[in-house]
Parts: sequence; C-alpha cells; structure tokens
Amino acid sequence: MVAMNSNDVHDNLIQQATTARNLAYAPYSNFKVGAALLTQSGKIITGCNVENISYTPTVCAERTAIFKAISEGEMIFSKIAVVTGDSTPSPPCGVCRQVLGEFVDDEFEIILATTTGKKQVYTYADLFPVRFVPNTTIGKNDVWYELRKIIQRDGIISDDEFELVSQILDDMDRLEEEINTLSIDDTFDDADRKIILELRRKVYDSAKLTADLDDMITDEEKEILVRLAEVLNINQ
Ligand code: THU
Repeated sequence: MVAMNSNDVHDNLIQQATTARNLAYAPYSNFKVGAALLTQSGKIITGCNVENISYTPTVCAERTAIFKAISEGEMIFSKIAVVTGDSTPSPPCGVCRQVLGEFVDDEFEIILATTTGKKQVYTYADLFPVRFVPNTTIGKNDVWYELRKIIQRDGIISDDEFELVSQILDDMDRLEEEINTLSIDDTFDDADRKIILELRRKVYDSAKLTADLDDMITDEEKEILVRLAEVLNINQ
C-alpha cells in the first residue's frame, strides 16, 4: 500500500468536508459549513452545521463531527478539515475550539478551505494557545471517566492493568449509588491528581505511538491505580 502524502490527506479531507457541507441545514444564515475529522485509527467522520429557528441551539459543523465521533467510540483525532463557501477560509468559532481542546493536542492540524480552492493550515496551538484545563480538581466523575478511557485502550495496557481496571469498572457499575457518595477529593491530594493526569497523558501517547504503556507507566502510577480501586471499595 502506498502511504498518502500530506497533500493527498488534506485533499481527501477537504473533499469529504465539501460533500458534508452539501447536507448543511442552514436556512437562517445560508452559511453552509462542512467538516471532516480524521481519527487516529484512520476513519473520517464528517459533520455539517445544523441551525434552529430559535437560533441558539445551532450546532457548528465541527462540533457535529466531534460529537458524532465520540458517540461512535472514536476519541483520538489527528486532523480536521473545515470547508465554507466564503471568499476566504473561515476558522472554527471559539466554542468549537474549546470542544476540540478536550480531545486534541497542540499539534492537531486544522485545515481550512473554501469551495473555490483556497486553503490555510493551522495547528490547534496556533488557534487556541491557552486552553481551559483545570489542574487542581479531579472529581468523582473524572476518575470514573479516566478509567473508562484507560479501558478503551485494551491491548495497549498490560493484562494485569486491564484486569484491574475491568474489575473496577464492573464493580463501579454495580455500586453506582455508593460511588456517587464517595469522596475522592478527601482521598487524593494535588500530587495524586497530577499523577492521574500524567497517567492519562501516557495512555494517550501510547495509543498514538502504539507503544507499550507498560514501558511508560511508573510504579508510582500503578500504585495510584491500585489506590483508586481501594477508594472505590473494591476487593482485589
Ligand atoms: N458555523 C460553523 O458551522 N462553524 C464555524 O466554525 C463557524 C460558524 C456555522 C454556524 C451557523 O450555522 C453558521 O455557520 C453561521 O454562523
């Protein structure tokens, strides 16, 4: 198989975003937008803007694509193309930049194009250099979510870790009511939270590099996973 070069990848994404743009529901602004999001696994997920007579519920093409992707189990993205019929390429709105920021790193590529063939390429960091990422509080739901993300990476964490996390998740499902009343804030200090964030970053990195998380994860981080299990009242 011949690998596509960066221009081919861009052209393909732009073409798919252009096709998605034709499906835009934009009777109020008449400003049609199409987006095509490339996932780490090579899938392309498209979106268009969907307007509403009440105006505020309008969703941009970029967010349509992101939400579709998440709802289909895709969470790691490398590029997005956005196509409009404007005279110059149109960058994503602030809300879409914030939503993207939840899932992408600074190098994520944003390809802006017009239906007349104009094109600009930015990185995420170019367009949103300082993001809202609180570092001090990881609440109960965050821990739950971290674990869900780790478990999604079956195959890139060690069997032992997978077992452990699977068990935590199974038990958490059963103990939902108790989980809601657990006070993780009392049990994990700021240093622990930083480690949990670092662990999350490594899970992402290893997924990107297809590296073995086992080589990247420290004993301290493993210990945190075990303590999470303890906090959640799980018998190992
Ligand atoms: N829109 C997008 O789809 N993406 C953007 O990045 C900016 C704006 C949509 C929203 C609305 O339907 C129309 O363009 C005009 O603002």
